[in-house]
Amino acid sequence: MTGASSGIGLAIAAMLAEEGHDLTITSRTPAKIEAAAAQLAEHGTAINLVAADLADADEVGRVLAAHRERFDRLDVLVNNAGLGIRGPIGEFSTKHMDLQLALNLRSVMLFYRESLDLLRVAGAEHRGALVINMSSVAGKQGEADLSVYSATKHGVVGFTQAMQRELAGDGIKSCVVCPGFVDTPLADYMKERLPAEEMIRPEDVAESVRSLLHLSPHCVVPEIVLMKPNAEGVLAV
Ligand SMILES: NC(=O)c1ccc[n+]([C@@H]2O[C@H](COP(=O)([O-])OP(=O)(O)OC[C@H]3O[C@@H](n4cnc5c(N)ncnc54)[C@H](OP(=O)(O)O)[C@@H]3O)[C@@H](O)[C@H]2O)c1
Repeated sequence: MTGASSGIGLAIAAMLAEEGHDLTITSRTPAKIEAAAAQLAEHGTAINLVAADLADADEVGRVLAAHRERFDRLDVLVNNAGLGIRGPIGEFSTKHMDLQLALNLRSVMLFYRESLDLLRVAGAEHRGALVINMSSVAGKQGEADLSVYSATKHGVVGFTQAMQRELAGDGIKSCVVCPGFVDTPLADYMKERLPAEEMIRPEDVAESVRSLLHLSPHCVVPEIVLMKPNAEGVLAV
């Protein structure tokens, strides 16, 4: 479970612990992931914590090595860590492009590649190994001033579709989740225009993921889009 220290990731981690899953949780900042582990401990399942910068490709292997050593099985993989850097393309630094590509998109690919053997074992056992990949509504429609973020999130949608086709035969399901604005620190920049209390709750995202845990092997949900209704009741970002 990546990006588990905050926001959507912490809500999904809490839901998974409630559902009885032992968890490896990871995020970049040691103090934040330690605080999250302390919070999750109340559910009584085992919590293995690893601080890692997932924009660094080698760190993905280190997280999975720690997971293997502690649990040596993987039924649910949640690729949630991400960040959004705003700015017009004419002023966008290469460093900020690379950072978003590495974290938001490449780390998802690396987690699949490096955990495939464990996912295949779970898939062979119960035909319901599950990978959740966090995209965004910006992964469905490009957003001005969020162009690189939008590109990475479109990439996550396409990669998830490819993984669903490539790995379904191994009993591995892939679902991409595309929320509108969720009340987390990542959406702070929007809170003057859209009050936090009118945003989607992190727990809404977690509940949508919970439903996937209980599906039969014959049912796959390839994509979840979460939006808020506007004043006319029409779906809106
Ligand atoms: N909030 C929204 O409106 C919204 C909408 C659509 C999609 N999303 C997506 O939802 C996901 C979670 O975002 P959030 O809204 O919950 O934001 P958040 O509260 O800021 O959480 C982001 C998480 O990602 C981790 N992270 C950031 N950089 C990292 C790095 N280099 N290496 C490892 N972990 C890193 C953070 O770790 P630390 O806390 O340790 O730094 C944190 O756990 C992201 O993929 C985001 O794109 C968010």
